[in-house]
Amino acid sequence: MTMTRISVALAAAGLMGATLAQAGEVEVLHWWTSGGEAKAVAELKASMQAKGHTWKDFAVAGGAGDAAMTVLKSRVVSGNAPAAAQIKGPSIQEWAREGVLANMDDVAKANKWDELLPKAIADGLKYQGHYVAAPVNVHRVNWVWANPEAFKKAGAKLPTTWDEFFTAAEALKKAGIIPVAHGGQNWQDFTTFESVALGIGGADFYKKALVQLDAASMKSPTMEKVLTTFKKVKTYTDKNAPGRDWNLATAMVIKGEAGMQLMGDWAKGEFLAAGKVPGKDFACVPAPGSAKSYTYNVDSFALFKLKDPANQKAQQDLATAIMSPEFQEVFNLNKGSIPVRLGMKLDKFDECAKTSAADFVSSSKAGTLVPSIAHGMAVPSASEGALKDVVSQFWNDDKMTVATAMDKMAAAAKSKAH
Ligand code: BGC
Repeated sequence: MTMTRISVALAAAGLMGATLAQAGEVEVLHWWTSGGEAKAVAELKASMQAKGHTWKDFAVAGGAGDAAMTVLKSRVVSGNAPAAAQIKGPSIQEWAREGVLANMDDVAKANKWDELLPKAIADGLKYQGHYVAAPVNVHRVNWVWANPEAFKKAGAKLPTTWDEFFTAAEALKKAGIIPVAHGGQNWQDFTTFESVALGIGGADFYKKALVQLDAASMKSPTMEKVLTTFKKVKTYTDKNAPGRDWNLATAMVIKGEAGMQLMGDWAKGEFLAAGKVPGKDFACVPAPGSAKSYTYNVDSFALFKLKDPANQKAQQDLATAIMSPEFQEVFNLNKGSIPVRLGMKLDKFDECAKTSAADFVSSSKAGTLVPSIAHGMAVPSASEGALKDVVSQFWNDDKMTVATAMDKMAAAAKSKAH
């Protein structure tokens, strides 16, 4: 009896010892603070805690992560990097060049990332051939979110072209509903701008003008039409848009105060968190004219070099968890995005997600899959910032002409792109 008790105790102690030796702390910088975002990141926290690790939440509020990136820079400069930070697109390369990111090849190899990720996405997560970041999802940016009840009241129909968009906007306005819910940061302006550019100019124009930053395309009749259309959208927003957060704009559509919002599918996370049902309480339609194209935005976590072995282990467990099928499913069901891991069943996902997944594949085949500039997927951060500034100046300053805006855009691209 005594022996048994002792061995049970020893076994328990041994087990505990092992857990303690392995358990580390994982500090994660992110900007997921809205209703849907918080539910999604809670899943990541839970999966780390289930492995015995301590989750240190490093949340910096602010859509699209502008504030988070500023805070991250000062932390890394002072030699106090978190284990993981929400960093994506070309910025991953910029951070890797600083020599501060950790090599995740062991995790990637053990879990077959090369086979489970689309090559173009995997390439973006590697620096000099080595994985330095783990991806969580694919967000589609070129969506319109609409309130069917508001559309019914206005006798309007969901738009598929920009002409239809403005017809619907006019009808909503007449019915006393704010046609377009919009917010006040420059990334929100650019989210609208890039959807207009894609819908009006098509994927080839989008790539040439906004990804390759070709000066002639920036000062072209097509860009003129894009800017004119973009500015017309503003006339259907309300006076309180400046300074408003994106999720508060989504809330206006949820409540039926506004008819529609041009936003990526993290907006769906807000509808779902509010208990709304897709296809019934809200509708998702591709941004006008862009149904056959797809603006992608892949959220990923870059992993920073750490000294403590237990924390390194926790970091590797985080990277492993992120790419696991269980996490990819539950996270994306809450986040509004689709799994980035290939070959996942989408049975539990709604029609918006299924459309997104199908369009991701078909646009990739057709060459109309394009990276989002607004969400840091396309151009170096310096060019992105300069372009966003010009586009927002144009949006906010009713005296700025289209010609001036085009000149400024070309200059912003030229002075920053190398
Ligand atoms: C991110 C999303 C996030 C959104 C709003 C985007 O740039 O990719 O994950 O929900 O910003 O904060």
